[in-house]
Amino acid sequence: MISLDDLLKPMSRADFFSQAWQKKAAYLPGATGERHRFSELPAFEQLPKLLSGRHLANHWIPGPKHAFASGIDSQGNPYSLGGIPSNMFDSLFNAGASLCLGPVNVYDTSLTAFVRSMAEEMGICGEIYTTCYVTPARSGGTMHFDSQNTFMCQVAGRKHWRFSTLPAAEMPPLNLDISAPNAAPLKTALRESGIPVRDSSQCDFTEVELSPGDVLYMPPGTWHEPRTGDEPSLHYTLTLQPLGFLHLLFPLLRTLMLQERRWREDIRFLDQPGADANVLAFAQGELDEFRQALSDIDAKTLLDNYRYSLLSRTAAPLRSLYTIA
Ligand SMILES: [Fe+2]
Repeated sequence: MISLDDLLKPMSRADFFSQAWQKKAAYLPGATGERHRFSELPAFEQLPKLLSGRHLANHWIPGPKHAFASGIDSQGNPYSLGGIPSNMFDSLFNAGASLCLGPVNVYDTSLTAFVRSMAEEMGICGEIYTTCYVTPARSGGTMHFDSQNTFMCQVAGRKHWRFSTLPAAEMPPLNLDISAPNAAPLKTALRESGIPVRDSSQCDFTEVELSPGDVLYMPPGTWHEPRTGDEPSLHYTLTLQPLGFLHLLFPLLRTLMLQERRWREDIRFLDQPGADANVLAFAQGELDEFRQALSDIDAKTLLDNYRYSLLSRTAAPLRSLYTIA
C-alpha cells in the first residue's frame, strides 16, 4: 500500500505542502535498487490484461474504449490526437505514438488501492484517479499545461520532462496545449476571465529524467513537455481534479433547487404576451428566496452533501472503490 508519505519522499509532508503544493513543481526521486515504491503497480507486461477490463461483483467492467495519442512526426514536430479507438492502440503505439489511457484505476486492484489510499488521507478527496501513459522509444508529447494537480509516477523505462519552474497561470480552470488550434482563443478567454497566461517563451524551464520509482509533481498551470529516449516508458499519473469551494457549493445548489417545483420550471416563455409573469421579476423573486434558503445552510450540511453527491455520481458496482468513510 502506497501512503501519501511514501509518495512524497524524500520530502516530508510538511515541506511538500509549505514549499511545493500548488506553488511549483517538485522532483521526488525514488530510492535506488531493484524494488521501488511503484513495484506493485501493473508493469508493461500486464497492460494488455489491464486494458481488457475487470470482473467485479458480478459485473464485467469494459476496458477503455478510447485513448489520447501524441508523438513526434517525421519532421520532428510534436502532435496530439484525441479519440483513438481501442482497435488502433497497438498499431499507433507500434508507429511511435504515446498513448494516454484512463482513468485506469478501476481495472486493477493495486491501482484501486493506490487511489483509495490517497483519498483516505485527504478527508474531502474530490475526484482523484490514475491515467496510464505508455510511450514507445523516441516519442513524446506536446507542450501544454493542465488544470489539475498531477503526480507523474514512473513505473518502467525512463521519461524526460521539460517543465516550467513556476506555473504560467494561477490555477487555470482548463488545460491548454500550445499546438492546439484553439490555443489562442483559450488564452484570450482566460485573460479576459482574470487569469493571465505567460507564454512558455517567458518562463524559466528545467529538465529532469524520471526512472522507475521517481515522481514528478506539477501544480496546475505548469508548462510541461515529455520525451522518451532509446527505451519505452510507462508511468501512471495520479490526477487530483480541482476541488475549490465552488465544487462543494454546486452540488448543494443543485440539490436545493431541484427540491422546488418552481426552480424546475422551464422559463423560456415567461415573457410571452399573455403570460402571467415576466422573466426579470421571476428571477428577482427566486434569487431572494434562494438567498434565504442558503442562509439556512451550515458548513456541515454543505460538506455532507458534497460527500454524498460524490458517491452518488459513481456507478453502483464501483461505489465501494471510492468510499472513503
Ligand atoms: Fe499533462
